[in-house]
Order: sequence, then structure tokens, then C-alpha cells
Amino acid sequence: MTKETKSDKDYSIYFQPPSLKDAKKRGKEEIAVLYDFAIPEELKLFGAGKSYMIRTYGCQMNENDTETMKGLLEQMGYTETEDKEEADVILLNTCAIRENAEDKVFGELGHLKHLKTRNPGLVLGVCGCMSQEEAVVNRIMQKHAFVDLIFGTHNIHRLPILLRDASFSKESVVEVWSKEGDIIENLPRKRSGMKAWVNIMYGCDKFCTYCIVPYTRGKERSRRPQDVLAEVRDLARQGVQEITLLGQNVNAYGKDFDDINYLFGDLMDDIRKIDIPRIRFTTSHPRDFDDHLIEVLAKGGNLVEHIHLPVQSGSTEVLKLMSRKYTREQYLELVGKLKAAIPNVVMTTDIIVGFPNETEEQFEETLSLVREVGYDNAFTFIYSPRDGTPAAAMEDNVPMDVKKRRLQRLNDELMISARASNLKLKGEVVEVLVEGESKTNPDVLAGRTRTNKLVHFAGPKSLEGKMAFVRVTEANTWTLKGELVEEPLQLSV
Ligand code: SAH
Ligand code: SF4
Ligand code: F3S
Repeated sequence: MTKETKSDKDYSIYFQPPSLKDAKKRGKEEIAVLYDFAIPEELKLFGAGKSYMIRTYGCQMNENDTETMKGLLEQMGYTETEDKEEADVILLNTCAIRENAEDKVFGELGHLKHLKTRNPGLVLGVCGCMSQEEAVVNRIMQKHAFVDLIFGTHNIHRLPILLRDASFSKESVVEVWSKEGDIIENLPRKRSGMKAWVNIMYGCDKFCTYCIVPYTRGKERSRRPQDVLAEVRDLARQGVQEITLLGQNVNAYGKDFDDINYLFGDLMDDIRKIDIPRIRFTTSHPRDFDDHLIEVLAKGGNLVEHIHLPVQSGSTEVLKLMSRKYTREQYLELVGKLKAAIPNVVMTTDIIVGFPNETEEQFEETLSLVREVGYDNAFTFIYSPRDGTPAAAMEDNVPMDVKKRRLQRLNDELMISARASNLKLKGEVVEVLVEGESKTNPDVLAGRTRTNKLVHFAGPKSLEGKMAFVRVTEANTWTLKGELVEEPLQLSV
């Protein structure tokens, strides 16, 4: 079923469909950090005169990987295009988190098929989290055989070689490593704009029972502090205004070091001394949020007062079935500590409704937790069973229409708390990092507060990429409107 490539390298052990079972095993072997990455000399002009397009689905981790793949492709001489009709390489960087994420990709593959018939030279590739799933790879091989290349999340650095192989091979090239690879430093990156992501760790060892990520991203492994700090300093020198530190579970940062005692709080304490106006992080797991980290965050400065702290459910019993490893009370205690330590902290979260057998009372506990915390925003989802995860084997007696109604009630509750929180800002002056013209009205600028709220205001285009100060004149549920003012002596947010 799996086809091999003409590659002369001995990577044959990897040319097999991925295995979720193998991906689950957490090996004891050391993860090496490799610093000597380089594009093979003979591939540096491989893409000259050709263009590529990458479609990115899913979370910031994928956005981040896309920037790396763009960097690799541009070092091979390819240029980026937005026009799929003219692209010589099209990559779909996919997400496996919920069924609808996967449906979108299969839909897109259907749309792209005709391009292959028109341009047989086109290399069409699928990468990202879906490639790590055996069922998906099998389905692509059987039903979408026109796909030329499938590679996983652990071997992105092999893209130049895989692309060469796919271009010359008549058969599909499949290279997915079920076990995570090493950490590869010094990969090229194509970044744009005044904001940047910095990956501080890869993988996840939490194994929440509903979640596919530990299988698609491998075990937790942290980048060395000096490598993260060097990257952040370099971004500061380039004038980047905002950095988001990335990991599936950033508070587990450093727990895998056995030669140094250096955790996420230590990293934040070092990063806050670097001259970048805003530092964010995502995502933090409530379980590993320690007091030292709270102490460091309370120092403020460029560490913004916005914490995304996924709760998933307000019911201790459901949390237990989800294997989140904290109770409702422990979560609320943590929120209490954060609110006490960080003035004006804004909390956002992720919530799943309709987990197998979630009762009405358990769902109402989620509603009451939402009221108690007073979130400013949340990503809310209907539970979607994922093949190979423990929850997929749980019997589920909550009908879909009940799940949908719960999602609606939850979203209504969140709108109330988001609106209440925004109303408090009316009349206040906020610091806004200006992103550019508003998508809906080119006469208006759009930007974000330190707490990541979207603000619209009239002002000169020259402010793009810079900080501005804006008095809030109108507060809506999800956005603020305001007017430009002089820098105030004291800021509200
Ligand atoms: N590492 C992050 C979450 C990454 S996935 C964390 O633990 O916070 C983003 C969100 O998708 C999760 O927080 C969860 O709310 C949701 N999610 C994950 N698996 C899901 C599933 N099987 N069904 C529905 N939502 C899911
Ligand atoms: Fe998934 Fe849980 Fe890991 Fe987040 S912490 S990525 S929800 S397993
Ligand atoms: Fe999706 Fe993979 Fe991110 S499953 S949410 S793209 S880690």
C-alpha cells in the first residue's frame, strides 16, 4: 500500500504508514539537539523559477511550522504565490484535533485534484498532524492517490529532500515518523510583520483522554534556554513588537532537562529582561502552573496580563474522565491566585461540551465556573471522538442536539461575561499594537491591546506596526472602538 521513493538514503524504515500505537510510547532515548542544519548544496537552486503555496489549518504550532517550511522552500529558490493555479508546489499543513478540521482538508483535496490533471508537474503534499494518523494516510493513499507527498510533524526539516524525491518519483512519497525526532535548531524561517512566534517546546505528555495531540506531536521536549533566548534577542534586534512563546503545555517547559534546573518561570524571568514590548505565551496547562511562574508574571512590564488557561469543564467528575489532573476547586484556586497577583488580569479559556455522558448538572457546573471566573473570551467546542484516544472508546449517551444546545447556552454565557468585561474599559486609555487597516473598513485602523482585545480607531496609516494609545469610546462584546490620544501618564490596560 505504501509506496517507496527513489531516495538513495536509507530511510526505508520510515516508509510505512504511521502508527498511533507507536506514537503513544514514550521512549527513554535522549533527544539530541542538532545545530548543523543546512540545505544540501545541490538543492539550493532546485526551486528557481518555481512557486509554492502552503495552506495552514489548526493551531499556532502549525503556523509556526509553516513559517519554517516557507523558509526551507525559499532557500531552495522557490517564491511564494497566493494563486493555486500557478503554484508548482502546494502543501496542506493539516490539523487533526476535531473531525470537522479533517473534513475541511479532505474537501480541499477534492478541489485541488483538477490542478493535478492540468499540471502533472505540480507537487501536491499533505503534512501536519493528520499525516501522523494511520487511518488518514491510508485514506489518502486509497482515495486521493493523486497526492504526491505525505510527511509528518517530526520530519519537516527533511522537506527539501522529500520534495526532490516527490518531483522525480512516479509514486507517492510517504515519510512519517511515529516516534518524535531530534530537536533541529537553525532551521530557516520566513516571518512577517511585527509579531513573532517562538517555539519553546515540542510535543505533549499529558494524554488528556479526548486529545490526539500527544500522538501527532510526540513526547514533550524543550529547546535549550540559550537557543530560545538567542532567538528572542535576535527578534528584538529586528524590531519585533510582540512575541508569543509556543508549546502545547508551556508550563511543562524544562521538566525534561536532567542537567539543569530551569523551568518556565525561569525562562520568563530571563525573557522579560529582553527589550520587546510584549511577551505572551500559549498554551498553559493548569496542572503545571507553579507559584514561581505567578511571581514572575506579577512583575508585569513586557509580560502581558493575559492568561489563556484552558479549563475544558467545570465538573470535577468530567475533568477526571478527561484525565486533566486537576479539580474544579484547584482550577478556581489557581485563578484566584492569578487575579490576586496580576492586577487587571484577563482570563481566556478552552471548553469542551458534550464529553461522553456529560450530565445536565455537570454541564451546569461549567456554566457556573464561567460565571465565577468571568472570562473575556473562550474557544468552545463540541466533543469530537478521535481514533485511538481513550475517550473514543467511551460510550456516549448525549445526543447531538443536546450537545449543540449546550454549546449555544455556553456561548451565550460567555457573551455576557465578555461584554461585561469590555464595558469596564469604556472611557479608559489602552495601549494598542497597530496591525493595519481594519478588514471591514479601510478608513479605520485595527490593533490589539496587551490583553489581545481587538480595537478599531481612526488614525494615520503610518502607525502600522507601532504602539498607539486609544481612549475607548464604545465597548461591544468582542471588539472595542476608540479615538487616538497622546501617551497617558498611566495606562489602564
Ligand atoms: N495544549 C492545549 C490544547 C490544544 S488543542 C491545552 O491543553 O490547553 C486546543 C483545544 O481543542 C483544547 O484545549 C480542547 O478544548 C480542544 N480539543 C482537543 N481535543 C478535542 C476533541 N477531541 N474534541 C473537541 N475539542 C477538542
Ligand atoms: Fe491535548 Fe491535553 Fe496535551 Fe493539551 S495538554 S495538547 S488538551 S493532551
Ligand atoms: Fe491541530 Fe495539531 Fe495543532 S492537531 S490543534 S494542528 S497540534
